[in-house]
Amino acid sequence: MSEISLTQNPAHVRHGSNVGQPLTRRDGLLKVTGAARYAADNHPESMVYAALAVSSIARGRVTALDVAAAKAHPGVIDVMTPENRPPLAEDPDAKNHPFMFRLDVLQNDRVRYPNQPIAVVIADTLEAATEGAALLAPRYDVEPARVGLDGNEVFTPQGVGVGNPPNDSHGDVEAGLAAASRRVEATYETPAQYHNPMEPHAIVAAWDGDRLSIDTPTQGLAMAVGRVAGLFGIAPEDIHIRSPFLGGGFGGKGVMSGPQVLGILAARMVGRPVKLVLRREQMYGPVGHRGPTRQTLRLGTAGDGALTALAHHTRTASSTFDDFFEPASNASHTLYASPAIATSHDGVRLDTGTPMFMRAPGEATGSLALEGALDEMAEACGMDPLDFRLKNYAEVEPTSGKPFSSKALRECYAQGAERFGWAARPLQPRQMRDASGLLVGWGMGTATFPALMFQAEARAAIKSDGTGLMETGAQDMGQGAWTALAQIAADGLGLDIDQVEFRAGTSDLPDAGIAGGSGHTATAGMALHDAGAKVIARLADLATSAENSPLFGAGNAGVVARDGRLFRRDDESRSESYADILARAGLPEIEARGKSAADPAVRNAYAMHAHGAVFAEVKVHPELGQIRVTRLVGAFAAGRVINPRMVESQYLGGMIWGVSFALHEHAITDRRSGRIMNANLAEYHVPVNADIPSVEAILVEEHDPHVNALGIKGVGEIGVTGTAGAIANAVWHATGIRVRHLPIGLEGLLAGGLGDA
Ligand code: MOS
Repeated sequence: MSEISLTQNPAHVRHGSNVGQPLTRRDGLLKVTGAARYAADNHPESMVYAALAVSSIARGRVTALDVAAAKAHPGVIDVMTPENRPPLAEDPDAKNHPFMFRLDVLQNDRVRYPNQPIAVVIADTLEAATEGAALLAPRYDVEPARVGLDGNEVFTPQGVGVGNPPNDSHGDVEAGLAAASRRVEATYETPAQYHNPMEPHAIVAAWDGDRLSIDTPTQGLAMAVGRVAGLFGIAPEDIHIRSPFLGGGFGGKGVMSGPQVLGILAARMVGRPVKLVLRREQMYGPVGHRGPTRQTLRLGTAGDGALTALAHHTRTASSTFDDFFEPASNASHTLYASPAIATSHDGVRLDTGTPMFMRAPGEATGSLALEGALDEMAEACGMDPLDFRLKNYAEVEPTSGKPFSSKALRECYAQGAERFGWAARPLQPRQMRDASGLLVGWGMGTATFPALMFQAEARAAIKSDGTGLMETGAQDMGQGAWTALAQIAADGLGLDIDQVEFRAGTSDLPDAGIAGGSGHTATAGMALHDAGAKVIARLADLATSAENSPLFGAGNAGVVARDGRLFRRDDESRSESYADILARAGLPEIEARGKSAADPAVRNAYAMHAHGAVFAEVKVHPELGQIRVTRLVGAFAAGRVINPRMVESQYLGGMIWGVSFALHEHAITDRRSGRIMNANLAEYHVPVNADIPSVEAILVEEHDPHVNALGIKGVGEIGVTGTAGAIANAVWHATGIRVRHLPIGLEGLLAGGLGDA
């Protein structure tokens, strides 16, 4: 029987009256009853359907499309090709800033990757549009596809990750390796992975003159508005995007994709609202993926097991026309103390769609290789993997020398190990079997993710009846933002969550920044917190300056907001309700705007990261090599927990991605054609319930006084880091075989000699 255990550390249920409470999802009922409206659920009057035709080659030119055949099909209204596509105000291949990605929106007949859109068929019904697209029967000039990490043009990117240099070096790695008493060199390979949210990219677009109304999932409403405004040459105020709920984002919905823009173009072309929803296989190309990596780690240790050098080189791939780059080596900047650390990256240009953010871009891939190589060194040193990590614990960030704003990683190791029962682990591999004879192995990995913050704004109001309103253009992509942010909003106003209307999910609201980089709760939350503080300050101004208020003369700093009232700090028997304060002033409501304001000086003074420790048990069939993860325990410290139920859910989800990374996900490219051979959910494997027998997340208490006023670090991505490495290390511990080519499967184990004995 599958079990997902919910462990709540009661220590977290005590900040303010709303923050810290394990509230259930406010959108839960809407979602289970089908009332939550996702983009594709919208059907404006006179709406028609668009279907993409996508390229079946990886590289070349489209030489012919049978547009006449498609148009002759009953119900087909029009066919959009590069010949008749409405003009755009901005070149879709322009690149004015790093987060602006080049789009394929029928600008010419070139094919740059498989599944690239080559035409759009618009029809009265989805069936007619789909059939029309099939009738186009494209002909191509085919050029050889560039596939694989070897033998293709190599380039060094300008920057990787969030403004990091591609090559970075601290201390003398070669000298550290030369002086080491033990050395390990290991190369790990990870495949291309594709986002597979339940909801594919979808758009319903409706024009009214030069005004545009869109329902579409996006992780960043304001950025999406900016991109569409630029492409169509219209004012941002004339663009209205609704994106209340996403059926999963994971980075794939971070920026507007080509197919979403094609939906808008199709609506412009036929002068009617248009719905365009990607088919599952169309998700494997134009909307991003995680690039493959080959990572080489070189480690040296002194006789006592202390690292003397750590070098991490990543080769990855990008497209031929853009530069997104999986920054895997950066994982080695933060985690382990070493007098010498060097990280480097290069890439090859392949005929694929441009890679994109995908849950913990860089950290997920990099941590797999780093944790694997660390485990190999622990083995070489004859040390327990946890003892080895503690021996090399970083007291300050090793590359920058900065102190950590907080780091409860030792507590994560201790609590995770205790819960898992790590102390009983035999040092040597292949020592444990279960009652049925399966090999049992235990492995661990360290998790880490930076505590990022971006810009955001919010509006707060108190109404004459004393209730509150908070607005910010955040979206709930399944992570629970609509609940957690509402908790922060309510605390910011000194009200119960039921007394606050929390509005989010449309572009007309203040910019909540991007829901990415695990920074959304901190970013949007700080904007809400600031807006709340400002509106309460205005209310306090009104009360403390009114002679007939019990708060008269207390001064703004002399009052505190709670339960819909302002109290005198020095005498809590004197208070006044928000409603009374507004009534006296004759105001229907009072409002203020707030911003997320990370203090750059503080941000610069400290290294800010969340941490965790993941422990895995696997069972492996001794002859057949089938691998099952039977137990996962993760202990994470990420600053203040806004809602333990949502946070735990994020950790569990991240760890399940880790299982997926270690054992399942693998996009397979046909080397002759460059096409992806398993662009579907039957052959591109993600875990199902049967793959996840037991997963447990422990919320380790951590107070961070520096990261932001709320003490939030972010929990969205850390769970995937550490986990894949822990599973890989557990497979070694079960079998004595290191499989460095991911995903780990029976092929790798059989090639490694499993069952030969
Ligand atoms: Mo995430 S990959 O920052 O959506």
